[in-house]
Amino acid sequence: METNLLITKFEEIFPSNESQKIRLFFSPGRINLIGEHTDYNGGHVFPCAITYGTYGVVRKREDRTIRMYSLNFEDKGVIEFHLDHLEYDPVHNWANYPKGMIRYIQEKEGLLPYGMDVLIYGNIPNGAGLSSSASLEVLTGVMVNELLDLRIARLDLVKLGKKVENEFIGVNSGIMDQFAVGMGKENCGILLDCNTLKYEYAPLKLSGYKIIIMNTNKRRELADSKYNERRSECETALELLQQVKEISSLGDLTEEEFESIKGHIHNDVLTKRAKHAVYENQRTLKALAALRNGDLNEFGLLMNSSHISLRDDYEVTGAELDTLVEAAWNQEGTIGARMTGAGFGGCAIAIVKEESVNKFMAEVSKEYLTKIGYEASFYVASIGDGAKEIELNACH
Ligand code: GLA
Repeated sequence: METNLLITKFEEIFPSNESQKIRLFFSPGRINLIGEHTDYNGGHVFPCAITYGTYGVVRKREDRTIRMYSLNFEDKGVIEFHLDHLEYDPVHNWANYPKGMIRYIQEKEGLLPYGMDVLIYGNIPNGAGLSSSASLEVLTGVMVNELLDLRIARLDLVKLGKKVENEFIGVNSGIMDQFAVGMGKENCGILLDCNTLKYEYAPLKLSGYKIIIMNTNKRRELADSKYNERRSECETALELLQQVKEISSLGDLTEEEFESIKGHIHNDVLTKRAKHAVYENQRTLKALAALRNGDLNEFGLLMNSSHISLRDDYEVTGAELDTLVEAAWNQEGTIGARMTGAGFGGCAIAIVKEESVNKFMAEVSKEYLTKIGYEASFYVASIGDGAKEIELNACH
């Protein structure tokens, strides 16, 4: 949607004679190239921000009321709350994400002096596992930070976004999504050590290749409960390994170290979960090295092994993601393919030679429809910046 149209919509929904300026912000979604289910295991991830995301049009108010309207959930109407009442409320539906963010900002900074009117529009496919919720959390953080001139460091906003997910919404997720959304950089992946939060940008030199996002169009319904279950399985495995080795997370182990002590887990399922966390972390480091050496083929092979490990050891893929990824592997011009994000539906990604892209989409689409019975969707990803303000011309 055109940004001018967003401003017009905002003025329609929140008419006002006040002279406060209207401002526009954008916060991306993310894909993760490799390093899945490693963030909460103290390992590395390698995500990037995409150019699909969430727009926020916002104007400061004179009082301490927040009013929000989403063009994605028009049936919910204007959702209104006060800065003195920032409790989770199921009736407030999608607005609980921004509400949680504002609550934690206020806990950190003290009472905020003004509320605001906000119009939201997102073009991240809903429920696709491309982090629409992290996008909305970080968007809210950046808007409030800028409008009220709070000067909260970006990394702190990222951490508050995670806190919303963990404590306000109740999903025990790691830091990857908010980090990618808040810290993304055009045409770069971010290698992030989730133990120390040290990170580095790695330029994605993909000339002649495209990253294709493949959406199963299966909503991630079980995702949150299964996600929390995987997380606690890893915690149990870690506790057992800590009895024989001094480690603070599974990300501390090399493959060899893990193999030499895995016998202490005494449970096949937990051993598989921990194995994934350890091997996936090491794979992520190898993938970055391959990228740095210009060896895209090796990067692709590591993506493929990542998917196999998520399918067989971590068991978070399912028929829809497996069908897409396995079909992708069989296409001419595919360098690598894997699920991305939490799994259980959502999206997969593939790196494909530019000249093969059309055929790739047609073939994978056909195979998915035949096997699964409904359509998948395909998007060519562009890698963009983290959340930021978009300058409006003077007439607004
Ligand atoms: C979700 C979570 C992230 C991460 C991924 C799996 O996207 O929000 O923190 O754990 O799943 O890698």
